[in-house]
Amino acid sequence: MSDAGPVTQIVHAGGAHVLPLLGRVETLLREVAAGHGAVLAEHAGSTIAAGGKRLRPLLVILAAGGDPEGDADGLVRAATAVELVHSATLVHDDVLDLAPLRRGVPTVFATAGRAAATQTGDLLFSRAFALLAQNGSPEQVRALSDAGSALARGELLQRADAWDATIPLERYLARCELKTARLFEACCILGALEGGTVDADALQEFGRRIGLAFQILDDVLDVAGPPEKTGKHRGTDLLDGTVTLPFILARERDPELGAIDPRAINTPAGAEAICDRIAATGALDAARAIALEHVAAAKAVIPDALAERERAALVLVADGVVARYS
Ligand code: IPE
Ligand code: IPE
Ligand code: MG
Ligand code: MG
Repeated sequence: MSDAGPVTQIVHAGGAHVLPLLGRVETLLREVAAGHGAVLAEHAGSTIAAGGKRLRPLLVILAAGGDPEGDADGLVRAATAVELVHSATLVHDDVLDLAPLRRGVPTVFATAGRAAATQTGDLLFSRAFALLAQNGSPEQVRALSDAGSALARGELLQRADAWDATIPLERYLARCELKTARLFEACCILGALEGGTVDADALQEFGRRIGLAFQILDDVLDVAGPPEKTGKHRGTDLLDGTVTLPFILARERDPELGAIDPRAINTPAGAEAICDRIAATGALDAARAIALEHVAAAKAVIPDALAERERAALVLVADGVVARYS
């Protein structure tokens, strides 16, 4: 989903109401950064302006199950709130990961430092809940809050696991669940509650499955590249001490790789060499296959009660998660 292609296809498949709603989300996103001082306006504003796929707001809109009746203000606010929480977690993630680039531009952390990035993330979080509280239901607020809390736990687990080449597969999957899948679940819950007609539990499971597939693919791309498509160097996770599915699968196939101390991987060239070694084991295809299993499971739970158009759009979302470069 690095280019407009797959997302444009999904927007088209979802029906004529989807694009105008996404446009309203965009307008609202740009408004919320203002009014809290020049510094936060600059950093929150640049985070939003840098773009991103806006996959989560799109999912909220699709999960609502069709062209909403009335002004759809609640749906637009819910979709915007989810993207704000996502953006907040990215700004904070870049502090934790010491990341130089995000969405193709320097991170808040890189341009303005840890303090500014921490406060920018906090602002984005608080604006999200202010927006949702305007007329969102308590269940919606709870769902988004639960996702935010899960994310915090997931990010801390990842820090706790750093530099450990032996972390079990289950532990990695638990991290993906907390760090990524819960927010995708929240998108589906918020949309389903807004629409009021769809089986929210089935959609939540759809969100969980595509969230897992999404993070697995993100971790595959970190090893596989190519950098000109992903926008980041290969091996940044390893350099950061983060052991992910490709390494976990590769260490079983290449025991010498499993014996490596991740702290010894301390140059970009060294990290790329390990990426090549991981790729040589066939672990990337095996990891993609696991992501595809989650995609298949996601498609299988798309509720029959949804109109054909929404079903088709959700199938494209599921397929798009593993057919992307960013
Ligand atoms: C990045 O999410 C964070 C992960 C969960 C891997 P996205 O790839 O959806 O980020 P943007 O919003 O498009 O920048
Ligand atoms: C995903 O983790 C970020 C969040 C879920 C907050 P990563 O650290 O793997 O994501 P990228 O690669 O920086 O986008
Ligand atoms: Mg990161
Ligand atoms: Mg991270």
